[in-house]
Amino acid sequence: MSHDTSSLVIDNIGLLVTNDPSLGSGPLGELKNASVVITDGFVESIGPSGAAADWHIDADGACVLPGFVDSHTHLVFAGDRSEEFTARMAGKPYDGGGIRVTTDATRRTSTDELHRLLQLRLAEAHRAGTTTIEIKSGYGLNVDDEVRSLEIAKTYTAESTFLGAHLLPSEFEGRADDYIDLVCGEMLDGAAGHSKWIDAFCETGAFDVDQSRAVLEAGKAAGLGLRLHGNQLGHGHGVQLAVECGCASVDHCTYLSDGDIEALAGSDTVATFLPAADFSTKQPYIDARRVIDAGATVAIASNCNPGSSYTTSMSFCIAIAVREMEMTIEEAIQAVTIGGAAALRRNDIGRLTPGSAGHAAILDAPSYHHLAYRPGVPLIRDTIGPLG
Ligand code: NIG
Repeated sequence: MSHDTSSLVIDNIGLLVTNDPSLGSGPLGELKNASVVITDGFVESIGPSGAAADWHIDADGACVLPGFVDSHTHLVFAGDRSEEFTARMAGKPYDGGGIRVTTDATRRTSTDELHRLLQLRLAEAHRAGTTTIEIKSGYGLNVDDEVRSLEIAKTYTAESTFLGAHLLPSEFEGRADDYIDLVCGEMLDGAAGHSKWIDAFCETGAFDVDQSRAVLEAGKAAGLGLRLHGNQLGHGHGVQLAVECGCASVDHCTYLSDGDIEALAGSDTVATFLPAADFSTKQPYIDARRVIDAGATVAIASNCNPGSSYTTSMSFCIAIAVREMEMTIEEAIQAVTIGGAAALRRNDIGRLTPGSAGHAAILDAPSYHHLAYRPGVPLIRDTIGPLG
């Protein structure tokens, strides 16, 4: 449900996560028996139960936390790759080649239909507690279809990302540098007005370090913020490149050397983990403990896409992080809220503090521990705030 009101109170909250340790106990700044007043979309006050407002929601003793910030998705696409998933479960490795399958399907699909499909996925994400979502292009891979994908994405979010350097399209086979010239030239010219960010897939089989660096430098010159896919399928130079270029985030980080972790810890580049992709591609789960203990900032995102991670569920990602990645439940909650906000260089979301966006998820549970304890159960009773 989206509550678009001038003044709303979420009352009778059994356990409130503010994400501000100065407001409550522990790293999540927890308060018991609390209320949150939201006026014109922003948090006006946090206090004990019993506050008044025009509209009233009774949390009935449940846990309330900031809406999830999903900082990595590829939601503009058509087609289905369930057969690729099934083949993977039978032992075929993931290599990213299926991106071309989705590109063919997306190019063939009308703009109206792409809007319709995206709206369905966004509604699904919102029902699951997500209130901020980043959306990449990357299944157009020519000037017109990349620009079209970004025009569609920016209809729904301020966090749109130009990913022309997702994979070499088949018509450029053997001419990767020519394609990179197109991405950095005419494609970027068309995309820049519709995107906040630029991204590249820096990986063996996709684009090498020099090609990825060229994309990031061209994007920076065009005024875009920088992000990078790196270290997804094996060790490589993606993390080092992201830190060198000052990327807001380097995403995947499934294979990290000690040097990569040291570089992340000494930078303000967020390490964004995509555990649902590691689940669906049968990659190993990252030991997040090494990264957190070194002092790096981490985020967790869904990476929703038809190939490597077809889920919008941040709760599923939390459960994997806690069960498989050596993260505490508190660290996982931070990673899907303020961690995601840091990956988008935002401090107005991912928290419930006076002045922040009034974006919240009301659980059907007394504590956030249930998000890991009850995996697969839809525990979001209500999502407050529009998805954008
Ligand atoms: O983040 N790694 C590159 N891009 C996506 C996968 C896209 C696909 O397989 O269609 C990812 O996992």
